[in-house]
Amino acid sequence: MKIKNTSGRGQRELKVKVKTARGRKLSSTRWLERQLNDPYVLAARRDGYRGRAAYKLIELDDKYRFLLPGARVVDLGCAPGGWLQVAVTRVNALGEKQGKRVGSVLGVDLQEVEPLPGAEAHVLDFLDEGAEEQVKAWLGGKADVVLSDMAAASSGHKQTDHLRIMSLCEAAAHFAFDVLDEGGTFVAKVLAGGAEGDLQHLLKQHFRKVANVKPPASRADSSEKYVVAQGFRGHPESDAE
Ligand SMILES: C[S@@+](CC[C@H](N)C(=O)[O-])C[C@H]1O[C@@H](n2cnc3c(N)ncnc32)[C@H](O)[C@@H]1O
Repeated sequence: MKIKNTSGRGQRELKVKVKTARGRKLSSTRWLERQLNDPYVLAARRDGYRGRAAYKLIELDDKYRFLLPGARVVDLGCAPGGWLQVAVTRVNALGEKQGKRVGSVLGVDLQEVEPLPGAEAHVLDFLDEGAEEQVKAWLGGKADVVLSDMAAASSGHKQTDHLRIMSLCEAAAHFAFDVLDEGGTFVAKVLAGGAEGDLQHLLKQHFRKVANVKPPASRADSSEKYVVAQGFRGHPESDAE
């Protein structure tokens, strides 16, 4: 799907102006105005997605093709469920594409997710002790794709936010090393700002290809980007068995 003028870089004229109202902060008015004029927000409403984030995954998968029919997907930080919706369709989790392999989609989040046919979602803090073991138990085997769009609520302090998101991303990466089948893909949100270099280095040791991407649906004024690591090299210790 193509959406025009999505970069938010200012070429687009605002169509809806929101007046400041008593009791509403200026920042809330700006947020509302941005939502009402964001083509991805409008498209999500039109296409029945739970949020504009769905288009980030669509754009990443259109480019890198990892959500194949039959793939087993784990989505960390999955609420409200936009990525789950995209994954369910693309991996054929409901078996709607006749003659194609049927995949599976498992998601976890701090927040409850409204039930979605084809996906299994659980409430879990992924940083809790034992969380990875719990997800592995729900998964019941290997995965082909590990996604992480996890983001902690903003503290308002750029450096703190950066470190938090990087620790979520690193936890997700170590989980991916553990559960991915050889050839698997890891996709995670990172923030530009320093510490991501270590993660790149780590990922390059475990995956054949590592790309840093800013999908068009990611807001231009956000320092978020995504790392797409493909071709998981597998576990040397299990190869030796
Ligand atoms: C940007 S949203 C994800 C949007 C999602 N990809 C979608 O398409 O609907 C980030 C999510 O990460 C979750 N999150 C943050 N920290 C987490 C943690 N420690 N464990 C699990 N989920 C976490 C938040 O609750 C939030 O729902």
